[in-house]
Amino acid sequence: TPETEPPKKGDVFVFAEGDKKGDEISFADLPKEGPAVLAFPKDPKTGVIKNGERNNMVLLIRLDPGELSPETAEYAADGTVAYSAICTHLGCTVSEWLPDKGDLMCPCHKGIYDPRQGAKVVGGPPPRPLPALPLQVQDDKPVCAGGFTSPVGVVAGLEPQGGSC
Ligand code: FES
Repeated sequence: TPETEPPKKGDVFVFAEGDKKGDEISFADLPKEGPAVLAFPKDPKTGVIKNGERNNMVLLIRLDPGELSPETAEYAADGTVAYSAICTHLGCTVSEWLPDKGDLMCPCHKGIYDPRQGAKVVGGPPPRPLPALPLQVQDDKPVCAGGFTSPVGVVAGLEPQGGSC
């Protein structure tokens, strides 16, 4: 169904939760230096919100462009970056924000990711970074510039050995 299709170039983003759930997100809606905002892509032509697939959930974070690693800057739009919200450890939603360092944290086993450095793992058990979703600027909004840079969620062969969740 259209609601389960993956994000594609030109998609806008809407709030995934809260008072503004379903509203389109502009740069002004994103707090500077975080916290991250949970979002789903929306096809602007059909108006379909792609919230029928959990793997489509992304974290939008507005950062200081000067703090982004070169790799991260390639995918960013006006300092804003988007990453998959699905933890690469065992698939929980990466829902917490650590304001001191400006890192993303998964509450399940305290996996920590640095959004300024391509969401590389800086703490806890995740085996790989969160996939990035490239962005571009369109008017006052961040829009999708292409697909995820790597597979979303738990990748076979990279699960922890003998672990249970
Ligand atoms: Fe995220 Fe384990 S599922 S740290």
